Amino acid sequence: MRNRTSPPPARKLVTALDIGSSKVCALIAEPGENGELKILGTGQRESRGVRRGFVADMERTEATIREAVEQAERIAGLNIDQVFVGFSAGGLVSTVASVELEIGGRQVEQQDVDQLLTAGRQSIDAQGRMMLHALPALYTLDGLQGVKKPLGLHADKLAVDIHVVAAEPSPVKNLDLCVRSAHLGVEAIVASPVAAGKACLSEEERELGVALVELGAGVTNVSVFAGGMLVGLKSLPMGGIDITDDIASAFGTRRGEAERMKCFYGSATTSPRDNHDMIDVNPVASQEEGTETVRITRAQLIGVIRQRLEHLMGEIANALKELGFSGPFGRQVVLTGGGSELKGIADYAQGVLGRAVRVGRPKMPGLPDAHSGPAFTTLAGLAQFAASKEIDIRQTATSHSAAPKQEGGNVVQRLISAFRSGY
Ligand SMILES: Nc1ncnc2c1ncn2[C@@H]1O[C@H](COP(=O)(O)OP(=O)(O)OP(=O)(O)O)[C@@H](O)[C@H]1O
Ligand SMILES: [Mg+2]
Repeated sequence: MRNRTSPPPARKLVTALDIGSSKVCALIAEPGENGELKILGTGQRESRGVRRGFVADMERTEATIREAVEQAERIAGLNIDQVFVGFSAGGLVSTVASVELEIGGRQVEQQDVDQLLTAGRQSIDAQGRMMLHALPALYTLDGLQGVKKPLGLHADKLAVDIHVVAAEPSPVKNLDLCVRSAHLGVEAIVASPVAAGKACLSEEERELGVALVELGAGVTNVSVFAGGMLVGLKSLPMGGIDITDDIASAFGTRRGEAERMKCFYGSATTSPRDNHDMIDVNPVASQEEGTETVRITRAQLIGVIRQRLEHLMGEIANALKELGFSGPFGRQVVLTGGGSELKGIADYAQGVLGRAVRVGRPKMPGLPDAHSGPAFTTLAGLAQFAASKEIDIRQTATSHSAAPKQEGGNVVQRLISAFRSGY
Protein backbone atom coordinates (compact mmCIF):
# COMPACT_ATOMS: atom_id res chain seq x y z
CA MET A 1 0.00 0.00 0.00
CA ARG A 2 1.11 3.56 -0.66
CA ASN A 3 1.88 5.52 2.44
CA ARG A 4 -0.17 8.70 2.12
CA THR A 5 0.23 9.85 5.71
CA SER A 6 3.67 11.39 5.34
CA PRO A 7 3.76 15.22 5.29
CA PRO A 8 3.80 16.86 1.86
CA PRO A 9 7.29 17.78 0.65
CA ALA A 10 8.26 21.35 1.39
CA ARG A 11 9.81 21.77 -2.05
CA LYS A 12 7.62 22.58 -5.04
CA LEU A 13 7.84 19.54 -7.27
CA VAL A 14 6.16 18.53 -10.49
CA THR A 15 5.20 14.96 -11.31
CA ALA A 16 4.26 13.80 -14.79
CA LEU A 17 2.30 10.63 -15.37
CA ASP A 18 1.88 9.20 -18.87
CA ILE A 19 -0.60 6.34 -19.08
CA GLY A 20 -0.05 4.66 -22.43
CA SER A 21 -1.33 1.50 -24.09
CA SER A 22 2.03 -0.25 -23.72
CA LYS A 23 3.64 1.44 -20.71
CA VAL A 24 2.80 3.68 -17.77
CA CYS A 25 5.59 6.02 -16.72
CA ALA A 26 6.15 8.70 -14.12
CA LEU A 27 8.71 11.45 -13.67
CA ILE A 28 9.32 13.58 -10.60
CA ALA A 29 11.22 16.83 -11.15
CA GLU A 30 12.06 20.01 -9.34
CA PRO A 31 11.81 23.26 -11.30
CA GLY A 32 14.82 25.54 -10.86
CA GLU A 33 14.83 29.33 -10.76
CA ASN A 34 15.10 29.68 -14.53
CA GLY A 35 12.45 27.10 -15.30
CA GLU A 36 14.97 24.30 -15.89
CA LEU A 37 13.97 20.94 -14.46
CA LYS A 38 16.06 18.78 -12.19
CA ILE A 39 14.97 15.19 -12.56
CA LEU A 40 14.68 13.44 -9.21
CA GLY A 41 13.15 10.10 -10.16
CA THR A 42 11.48 8.12 -12.93
CA GLY A 43 9.42 4.95 -12.96
CA GLN A 44 7.94 2.67 -15.56
CA ARG A 45 5.69 -0.38 -15.70
CA GLU A 46 4.24 -2.37 -18.54
CA SER A 47 0.71 -1.14 -19.08
CA ARG A 48 -2.13 -3.45 -18.17
CA GLY A 49 -5.71 -2.35 -18.64
CA VAL A 50 -5.27 0.45 -21.21
CA ARG A 51 -6.39 -0.14 -24.78
CA ARG A 52 -5.89 2.45 -27.55
CA GLY A 53 -5.34 5.05 -24.84
CA PHE A 54 -8.67 4.29 -23.12
CA VAL A 55 -8.95 2.74 -19.67
CA ALA A 56 -10.39 -0.71 -20.28
CA ASP A 57 -9.68 -2.22 -16.85
CA MET A 58 -9.87 0.13 -13.89
CA GLU A 59 -8.17 -2.04 -11.25
CA ARG A 60 -5.23 -3.11 -13.35
CA THR A 61 -4.64 0.44 -14.57
CA GLU A 62 -4.76 1.75 -11.02
CA ALA A 63 -2.27 -0.88 -9.83
CA THR A 64 0.12 -0.08 -12.69
CA ILE A 65 -0.07 3.65 -11.93
CA ARG A 66 0.74 2.98 -8.29
CA GLU A 67 3.73 0.81 -9.16
CA ALA A 68 5.18 3.29 -11.67
CA VAL A 69 4.78 6.24 -9.30
CA GLU A 70 6.18 4.28 -6.34
CA GLN A 71 9.26 3.40 -8.35
CA ALA A 72 9.84 7.07 -9.17
CA GLU A 73 9.24 7.98 -5.51
CA ARG A 74 11.76 5.41 -4.32
CA ILE A 75 14.43 6.78 -6.65
CA ALA A 76 13.62 10.37 -5.68
CA GLY A 77 13.52 9.42 -2.00
CA LEU A 78 10.24 11.24 -1.36
CA ASN A 79 6.50 10.94 -1.72
CA ILE A 80 4.43 13.02 -4.08
CA ASP A 81 0.72 13.89 -3.92
CA GLN A 82 -0.20 15.61 -7.17
CA VAL A 83 0.35 14.62 -10.77
CA PHE A 84 -0.05 16.04 -14.27
CA VAL A 85 -1.61 13.32 -16.39
CA GLY A 86 -1.41 12.94 -20.16
CA PHE A 87 -4.48 12.04 -22.19
CA SER A 88 -3.92 10.54 -25.62
CA ALA A 89 -7.04 8.59 -26.49
CA GLY A 90 -9.30 9.49 -29.39
CA GLY A 91 -12.02 12.09 -29.19
CA LEU A 92 -9.61 15.01 -28.76
CA VAL A 93 -10.58 18.09 -30.74
CA SER A 94 -8.78 21.39 -31.12
CA THR A 95 -10.21 24.70 -32.24
CA VAL A 96 -9.20 28.32 -32.18
CA ALA A 97 -11.78 30.80 -30.83
CA SER A 98 -11.44 34.55 -31.43
CA VAL A 99 -12.91 37.45 -29.41
CA GLU A 100 -12.68 41.21 -29.83
CA LEU A 101 -12.97 44.22 -27.49
CA GLU A 102 -13.41 47.98 -28.17
CA ILE A 103 -10.59 49.97 -26.53
CA GLY A 104 -11.38 53.41 -28.01
CA GLY A 105 -7.88 54.58 -28.90
CA ARG A 106 -6.35 54.51 -25.41
CA GLN A 107 -3.54 52.33 -24.09
CA VAL A 108 -4.35 48.67 -23.47
CA GLU A 109 -4.44 47.90 -19.73
CA GLN A 110 -4.32 44.63 -17.83
CA GLN A 111 -8.02 45.01 -17.11
CA ASP A 112 -8.75 45.00 -20.86
CA VAL A 113 -6.77 41.81 -21.31
CA ASP A 114 -8.60 40.18 -18.38
CA GLN A 115 -11.94 41.26 -19.80
CA LEU A 116 -11.06 39.90 -23.21
CA LEU A 117 -9.97 36.52 -21.81
CA THR A 118 -13.11 36.23 -19.69
CA ALA A 119 -15.22 36.92 -22.75
CA GLY A 120 -13.17 34.36 -24.62
CA ARG A 121 -13.84 31.74 -22.02
CA GLN A 122 -17.56 32.45 -22.17
CA SER A 123 -17.65 32.32 -25.95
CA ILE A 124 -16.12 28.87 -26.15
CA ASP A 125 -18.67 26.26 -26.97
CA ALA A 126 -17.18 22.89 -26.12
CA GLN A 127 -20.24 21.11 -27.55
CA GLY A 128 -20.63 18.68 -24.69
CA ARG A 129 -16.93 17.93 -24.56
CA MET A 130 -14.66 18.50 -21.59
CA MET A 131 -12.30 21.42 -22.04
CA LEU A 132 -8.71 20.43 -21.27
CA HIS A 133 -6.99 23.63 -22.40
CA ALA A 134 -8.02 27.17 -23.24
CA LEU A 135 -4.79 29.05 -23.80
CA PRO A 136 -4.66 32.61 -25.12
CA ALA A 137 -2.20 32.79 -27.99
CA LEU A 138 -1.85 35.73 -30.36
CA TYR A 139 -3.40 39.18 -29.93
CA THR A 140 -4.51 41.44 -32.76
CA LEU A 141 -4.36 45.24 -32.39
CA ASP A 142 -6.48 47.12 -34.95
CA GLY A 143 -5.85 44.44 -37.54
CA LEU A 144 -2.14 44.08 -36.74
CA GLN A 145 -1.91 40.35 -36.14
CA GLY A 146 0.57 38.34 -34.12
CA VAL A 147 1.07 40.70 -31.16
CA LYS A 148 2.31 38.82 -28.10
CA LYS A 149 2.24 41.59 -25.48
CA PRO A 150 -0.45 44.21 -26.13
CA LEU A 151 -0.11 45.99 -22.74
CA GLY A 152 0.66 49.72 -23.07
CA LEU A 153 -0.02 49.93 -26.80
CA HIS A 154 -2.72 52.29 -28.15
CA ALA A 155 -5.59 50.65 -30.00
CA ASP A 156 -9.18 51.01 -31.09
CA LYS A 157 -9.82 47.29 -31.01
CA LEU A 158 -8.08 44.44 -29.22
CA ALA A 159 -8.71 40.83 -30.24
CA VAL A 160 -7.25 37.49 -29.18
CA ASP A 161 -7.03 33.97 -30.57
CA ILE A 162 -7.67 31.34 -27.94
CA HIS A 163 -6.52 27.81 -28.49
CA VAL A 164 -9.00 25.30 -27.11
CA VAL A 165 -8.49 21.55 -26.73
CA ALA A 166 -11.44 19.45 -25.63
CA ALA A 167 -12.09 15.73 -25.19
CA GLU A 168 -14.97 13.31 -24.78
CA PRO A 169 -15.83 13.50 -21.06
CA SER A 170 -16.21 9.80 -20.17
CA PRO A 171 -12.70 8.58 -21.06
CA VAL A 172 -11.19 11.60 -19.28
CA LYS A 173 -13.29 10.89 -16.18
CA ASN A 174 -12.22 7.23 -16.19
CA LEU A 175 -8.57 8.21 -16.39
CA ASP A 176 -9.03 10.76 -13.61
CA LEU A 177 -10.75 8.15 -11.44
CA CYS A 178 -7.94 5.62 -11.90
CA VAL A 179 -5.34 8.16 -10.82
CA ARG A 180 -7.36 9.25 -7.80
CA SER A 181 -7.98 5.62 -6.83
CA ALA A 182 -4.19 5.28 -6.70
CA HIS A 183 -4.34 7.99 -3.98
CA LEU A 184 -2.94 10.72 -6.17
CA GLY A 185 -4.41 14.17 -6.77
CA VAL A 186 -4.83 15.25 -10.38
CA GLU A 187 -3.40 18.71 -10.93
CA ALA A 188 -4.35 18.74 -14.59
CA ILE A 189 -5.12 16.41 -17.45
CA VAL A 190 -3.06 17.51 -20.42
CA ALA A 191 -3.68 16.56 -24.04
CA SER A 192 -0.74 14.41 -25.10
CA PRO A 193 0.07 16.45 -28.27
CA VAL A 194 0.30 19.65 -26.21
CA ALA A 195 2.87 17.97 -23.97
CA ALA A 196 4.75 16.18 -26.76
CA GLY A 197 4.94 19.41 -28.80
CA LYS A 198 6.60 21.16 -25.89
CA ALA A 199 9.23 18.48 -25.45
CA CYS A 200 10.43 17.78 -28.98
CA LEU A 201 9.63 20.80 -31.18
CA SER A 202 11.64 24.00 -31.25
CA GLU A 203 9.86 27.29 -30.62
CA GLU A 204 10.67 28.32 -34.18
CA GLU A 205 9.13 25.16 -35.63
CA ARG A 206 5.96 25.71 -33.61
CA GLU A 207 5.74 29.28 -34.88
CA LEU A 208 6.53 28.73 -38.55
CA GLY A 209 4.43 25.60 -38.91
CA VAL A 210 5.15 21.94 -38.20
CA ALA A 211 3.25 18.69 -37.96
CA LEU A 212 3.88 16.34 -35.06
CA VAL A 213 3.01 12.67 -35.44
CA GLU A 214 3.19 10.65 -32.23
CA LEU A 215 3.31 6.96 -33.08
CA GLY A 216 2.28 5.20 -29.89
CA ALA A 217 1.46 1.57 -29.27
CA GLY A 218 -2.30 1.89 -29.69
CA VAL A 219 -2.82 5.49 -30.80
CA THR A 220 -1.27 7.74 -33.42
CA ASN A 221 -1.84 11.42 -32.73
CA VAL A 222 -1.39 13.79 -35.66
CA SER A 223 -1.19 17.44 -34.68
CA VAL A 224 -0.36 20.68 -36.43
CA PHE A 225 1.36 23.66 -34.79
CA ALA A 226 1.42 27.17 -36.23
CA GLY A 227 1.81 30.65 -34.81
CA GLY A 228 3.25 29.08 -31.66
CA MET A 229 0.25 26.94 -30.79
CA LEU A 230 -1.48 23.70 -31.55
CA VAL A 231 -4.08 24.51 -34.18
CA GLY A 232 -5.42 21.11 -35.13
CA LEU A 233 -5.26 17.48 -34.19
CA LYS A 234 -6.58 14.11 -35.18
CA SER A 235 -6.31 10.86 -33.28
CA LEU A 236 -5.97 7.63 -35.21
CA PRO A 237 -6.78 4.40 -33.34
CA MET A 238 -3.72 2.55 -34.66
CA GLY A 239 -0.07 2.18 -33.72
CA GLY A 240 2.90 -0.09 -33.10
CA ILE A 241 0.75 -2.82 -31.58
CA ASP A 242 -0.89 -3.39 -34.96
CA ILE A 243 2.49 -4.01 -36.59
CA THR A 244 3.41 -6.47 -33.83
CA ASP A 245 0.09 -8.30 -34.16
CA ASP A 246 0.55 -8.59 -37.93
CA ILE A 247 4.00 -10.14 -37.41
CA ALA A 248 2.64 -12.54 -34.79
CA SER A 249 -0.14 -13.78 -37.05
CA ALA A 250 1.95 -13.84 -40.25
CA PHE A 251 4.61 -16.08 -38.70
CA GLY A 252 2.48 -17.91 -36.13
CA THR A 253 4.42 -16.67 -33.14
CA ARG A 254 3.65 -15.06 -29.80
CA ARG A 255 3.28 -11.31 -29.36
CA GLY A 256 6.39 -11.04 -27.21
CA GLU A 257 8.45 -12.79 -29.87
CA ALA A 258 6.89 -10.67 -32.64
CA GLU A 259 7.74 -7.50 -30.67
CA ARG A 260 11.35 -8.65 -30.32
CA MET A 261 11.59 -9.41 -34.05
CA LYS A 262 10.17 -5.97 -34.91
CA CYS A 263 12.52 -4.09 -32.62
CA PHE A 264 15.71 -6.05 -33.45
CA TYR A 265 15.32 -6.90 -37.13
CA GLY A 266 12.45 -4.74 -38.32
CA SER A 267 12.85 -1.81 -40.67
CA ALA A 268 10.73 0.54 -42.72
CA THR A 269 13.22 0.52 -45.58
CA THR A 270 14.46 -2.38 -47.66
CA SER A 271 17.88 -3.45 -48.90
CA PRO A 272 18.97 -6.32 -51.19
CA ARG A 273 20.70 -7.98 -48.23
CA ASP A 274 17.33 -8.58 -46.59
CA ASN A 275 16.84 -11.66 -48.77
CA HIS A 276 19.94 -13.27 -47.27
CA ASP A 277 19.54 -12.30 -43.61
CA MET A 278 17.79 -15.15 -41.82
CA ILE A 279 15.75 -14.84 -38.62
CA ASP A 280 14.77 -17.69 -36.30
CA VAL A 281 11.14 -17.65 -35.19
CA ASN A 282 9.72 -19.69 -32.32
CA PRO A 283 6.25 -20.84 -33.33
CA VAL A 284 3.43 -20.57 -30.77
CA ALA A 285 3.24 -24.34 -30.49
CA SER A 286 6.96 -24.81 -29.83
CA GLN A 287 6.81 -24.18 -26.09
CA GLU A 288 4.31 -26.98 -25.51
CA GLU A 289 5.17 -29.47 -28.19
CA GLY A 290 8.83 -28.89 -28.87
CA THR A 291 8.16 -27.83 -32.46
CA GLU A 292 11.24 -26.78 -34.41
CA THR A 293 11.96 -23.10 -34.85
CA VAL A 294 11.10 -21.68 -38.25
CA ARG A 295 13.51 -19.61 -40.34
CA ILE A 296 12.33 -16.62 -42.31
CA THR A 297 14.19 -13.99 -44.30
CA ARG A 298 14.44 -10.44 -43.06
CA ALA A 299 12.75 -9.43 -46.33
CA GLN A 300 9.64 -11.39 -45.30
CA LEU A 301 9.53 -9.61 -41.94
CA ILE A 302 9.97 -6.19 -43.53
CA GLY A 303 7.26 -7.04 -46.07
CA VAL A 304 4.74 -7.54 -43.24
CA ILE A 305 5.86 -4.36 -41.46
CA ARG A 306 5.64 -2.27 -44.62
CA GLN A 307 2.17 -3.44 -45.47
CA ARG A 308 0.85 -2.07 -42.17
CA LEU A 309 3.03 1.04 -42.42
CA GLU A 310 1.62 1.86 -45.84
CA HIS A 311 -1.86 1.90 -44.38
CA LEU A 312 -0.76 3.95 -41.37
CA MET A 313 1.15 6.51 -43.46
CA GLY A 314 -1.84 6.80 -45.81
CA GLU A 315 -4.05 7.65 -42.83
CA ILE A 316 -1.45 10.14 -41.55
CA ALA A 317 -1.29 11.83 -44.98
CA ASN A 318 -5.11 12.10 -45.02
CA ALA A 319 -5.12 13.57 -41.52
CA LEU A 320 -2.51 16.19 -42.49
CA LYS A 321 -4.60 17.16 -45.49
CA GLU A 322 -7.74 17.40 -43.36
CA LEU A 323 -5.90 19.63 -40.89
CA GLY A 324 -4.89 22.04 -43.65
CA PHE A 325 -1.19 21.21 -43.41
CA SER A 326 -0.19 22.12 -46.93
CA GLY A 327 1.50 24.83 -48.96
CA PRO A 328 4.89 26.37 -48.27
CA PHE A 329 4.64 26.19 -44.46
CA GLY A 330 3.62 22.53 -44.44
CA ARG A 331 7.15 21.30 -44.98
CA GLN A 332 8.37 19.83 -41.74
CA VAL A 333 7.01 16.70 -40.07
CA VAL A 334 8.36 15.41 -36.76
CA LEU A 335 7.78 11.79 -35.75
CA THR A 336 7.87 10.82 -32.10
CA GLY A 337 6.45 8.12 -29.78
CA GLY A 338 7.89 4.62 -29.41
CA GLY A 339 6.80 3.68 -32.94
CA SER A 340 9.29 6.19 -34.35
CA GLU A 341 12.11 3.94 -33.06
CA LEU A 342 11.48 1.66 -36.03
CA LYS A 343 14.63 1.64 -38.16
CA GLY A 344 14.42 3.80 -41.28
CA ILE A 345 11.01 5.24 -40.47
CA ALA A 346 11.99 8.89 -41.08
CA ASP A 347 13.32 8.08 -44.57
CA TYR A 348 10.28 6.01 -45.35
CA ALA A 349 7.86 8.72 -44.14
CA GLN A 350 9.77 11.38 -46.07
CA GLY A 351 9.25 9.41 -49.29
CA VAL A 352 5.55 8.79 -48.68
CA LEU A 353 4.63 12.23 -47.30
CA GLY A 354 6.91 14.24 -49.61
CA ARG A 355 8.08 16.42 -46.73
CA ALA A 356 11.14 16.75 -44.54
CA VAL A 357 10.78 14.25 -41.70
CA ARG A 358 12.85 13.91 -38.56
CA VAL A 359 12.47 11.87 -35.38
CA GLY A 360 11.85 14.05 -32.32
CA ARG A 361 13.26 13.03 -28.95
CA PRO A 362 12.51 14.77 -25.67
CA LYS A 363 14.76 17.78 -25.18
CA MET A 364 15.33 17.55 -21.47
CA PRO A 365 18.82 17.50 -19.96
CA GLY A 366 19.27 14.89 -17.26
CA LEU A 367 16.74 12.33 -18.49
CA PRO A 368 18.06 8.86 -17.66
CA ASP A 369 19.17 6.92 -20.76
CA ALA A 370 16.31 4.46 -20.37
CA HIS A 371 13.82 7.32 -20.66
CA SER A 372 15.47 9.52 -23.25
CA GLY A 373 13.98 7.93 -26.39
CA PRO A 374 10.99 9.19 -28.39
CA ALA A 375 8.61 6.96 -26.36
CA PHE A 376 9.13 9.42 -23.47
CA THR A 377 8.45 12.67 -25.31
CA THR A 378 4.99 13.04 -23.79
CA LEU A 379 6.27 12.27 -20.29
CA ALA A 380 9.00 14.92 -20.53
CA GLY A 381 6.57 17.38 -22.10
CA LEU A 382 4.09 16.89 -19.26
CA ALA A 383 6.75 17.88 -16.74
CA GLN A 384 7.72 20.89 -18.87
CA PHE A 385 4.08 21.89 -19.20
CA ALA A 386 3.64 21.54 -15.44
CA ALA A 387 6.63 23.78 -14.79
CA SER A 388 5.71 26.39 -17.40
CA LYS A 389 2.71 27.90 -15.56
CA GLU A 390 0.93 28.77 -18.79
CA ILE A 391 -2.11 30.97 -18.34
CA ASP A 392 -5.17 28.82 -18.73
CA ILE A 393 -8.36 30.85 -18.95
CA ARG A 394 -10.68 28.00 -18.05
CA GLN A 395 -10.53 29.27 -14.48
CA THR A 396 -11.03 33.04 -15.01
CA ALA A 397 -14.11 34.11 -13.12
CA THR A 398 -15.54 37.62 -13.49
CA SER A 399 -18.06 38.33 -16.19
CA HIS A 400 -17.57 41.06 -18.78
CA SER A 401 -18.82 41.43 -22.28
CA ALA A 402 -16.92 41.39 -25.52
CA ALA A 403 -18.07 40.34 -28.91
CA PRO A 404 -17.19 36.89 -30.22
CA LYS A 405 -15.54 37.36 -33.58
CA GLN A 406 -16.65 35.28 -36.50
CA GLU A 407 -14.08 32.67 -37.38
CA GLY A 408 -13.42 32.46 -41.09
CA GLY A 409 -11.05 30.82 -43.55
CA ASN A 410 -8.32 28.36 -42.79
CA VAL A 411 -7.07 28.99 -39.27
CA VAL A 412 -3.70 27.40 -39.93
CA GLN A 413 -3.04 29.61 -42.95
CA ARG A 414 -4.26 32.68 -41.10
CA LEU A 415 -2.00 32.05 -38.11
CA ILE A 416 0.99 31.56 -40.35
CA SER A 417 0.43 34.82 -42.18
CA ALA A 418 -0.29 36.53 -38.86
CA PHE A 419 3.01 35.35 -37.51
CA ARG A 420 4.94 36.38 -40.60
CA SER A 421 3.45 39.83 -40.90
CA GLY A 422 3.08 40.66 -37.23
CA TYR A 423 6.67 41.35 -36.25
N1 LIG B 1 12.89 -0.27 -31.91
C1 LIG B 1 11.57 -0.25 -32.19
N2 LIG B 1 11.15 -0.57 -33.43
C2 LIG B 1 9.84 -0.57 -33.71
N3 LIG B 1 8.86 -0.26 -32.84
C3 LIG B 1 9.23 0.06 -31.60
C4 LIG B 1 10.60 0.08 -31.20
N4 LIG B 1 10.64 0.44 -29.90
C5 LIG B 1 9.37 0.63 -29.50
N5 LIG B 1 8.50 0.39 -30.51
C6 LIG B 1 7.05 0.42 -30.48
O1 LIG B 1 6.56 1.59 -29.89
C7 LIG B 1 5.28 1.31 -29.29
C8 LIG B 1 5.23 1.94 -27.91
O2 LIG B 1 5.24 3.33 -28.07
P1 LIG B 1 4.84 4.29 -26.86
O3 LIG B 1 5.63 3.91 -25.67
O4 LIG B 1 4.96 5.67 -27.37
O5 LIG B 1 3.31 3.87 -26.67
P2 LIG B 1 2.35 4.14 -25.42
O6 LIG B 1 2.56 5.52 -24.94
O7 LIG B 1 2.50 3.05 -24.42
O8 LIG B 1 0.92 3.93 -26.09
P3 LIG B 1 -0.18 4.97 -26.61
O9 LIG B 1 0.36 6.34 -26.49
O10 LIG B 1 -0.43 4.58 -28.02
O11 LIG B 1 -1.36 4.71 -25.74
C9 LIG B 1 5.13 -0.19 -29.22
O12 LIG B 1 4.16 -0.63 -30.14
C10 LIG B 1 6.52 -0.69 -29.60
O13 LIG B 1 6.47 -1.89 -30.32
MG1 LIG C 1 1.78 7.37 -25.47
